[in-house]
Amino acid sequence: MPSTHSREATNGTASQADERPSLLRLASLLEEWQFDAEAAHLAFTTGTPRGPITSLPSLDRELGGALAPGVHVLHAGPGVGKTAFALQVAALSPFPALYLSAEMSALELFRRVTARVTSTFLGRLRSGELEPTASLALARKAAAAAPQLTIADATQSWAPPEWIMATAQLLQGDASHLLLVVDSIHSWAEFEPEGIAEYDALNAGLAALRRIARTIVCPIVAIAERNRPSMKDGGISAAAGSRKFEYGGESVLSLSRDKDAAGDAAGDAPVTLMIEKNRNGAPGKKIKLLFNGALQRFREADR
Ligand SMILES: Nc1ncnc2c1ncn2[C@@H]1O[C@H](COP(=O)(O)OP(=O)(O)O)[C@@H](O)[C@H]1O
Ligand SMILES: [Mg+2]
Repeated sequence: MPSTHSREATNGTASQADERPSLLRLASLLEEWQFDAEAAHLAFTTGTPRGPITSLPSLDRELGGALAPGVHVLHAGPGVGKTAFALQVAALSPFPALYLSAEMSALELFRRVTARVTSTFLGRLRSGELEPTASLALARKAAAAAPQLTIADATQSWAPPEWIMATAQLLQGDASHLLLVVDSIHSWAEFEPEGIAEYDALNAGLAALRRIARTIVCPIVAIAERNRPSMKDGGISAAAGSRKFEYGGESVLSLSRDKDAAGDAAGDAPVTLMIEKNRNGAPGKKIKLLFNGALQRFREADR
């Protein structure tokens, strides 16, 4: 059901910043309320998600059933699995997903999806040990399993916010929802060609992402590097460079590899996902996950 925002978005306005706030008596919101109540009830009774989901059932439940429109910050120390996590969410999304990668090439991301979908160790997809036709057959299977995923390879070129917004709208087409992932907001914002300082670039980048989320009414998973003092312990203010990460976001999620925990024989290592901030449910919840690095796969520990 169209909300006020999505009606504006389909008119293709990029000029919302120029508009003035709407003045609304509560009674004038009743029509929008009705659309929303009908959509919520339909989703509830049919068990369908009201928007892009993470496909991790406990996490989706804690976040209010789906990823709400707005910016969801995901942070963790290096190598803990931010890219693997966000890529899995995007590839499994029941709606079109745009994965903007300023860190890793599209081919490397494709290998990661292929490892997960076909249960082939990532190392084997890289080493050359597979006969090319066998390797390609695996890749085909992965591509077929993620038909709604589009990767924007921004490792070599800057993706301006207006371009991201236009591309996301194009990919959404007639679909009711779209998911955008930015990996990572630091690498993306630093690419900004004006050469502004890191702090300013991050704030400008965050503001641009919030504007995109508001205008086209979509959730954005924004990966954030962790600052040095919080590298080990995380916490709500652990995203490096800008305090604004914690303010404007719908949620702040952090991943940490459990201390001293070795992976088991199946290669699963325990990782805790902490919901540091949650506008759509209770904050402070911890969800136990298992991460298989070789297969680039996250799953809930208790399932
Ligand atoms: N060939 C591999 N075999 C086993 N694990 C791997 C392999 N390649 C990557 N990994 C795992 O994936 C992790 C990297 O995950 P990634 O999502 O890139 O982390 P982040 O984005 O947080 O830096 C590594 O730390 C490692 O645990
Ligand atoms: Mg990464």
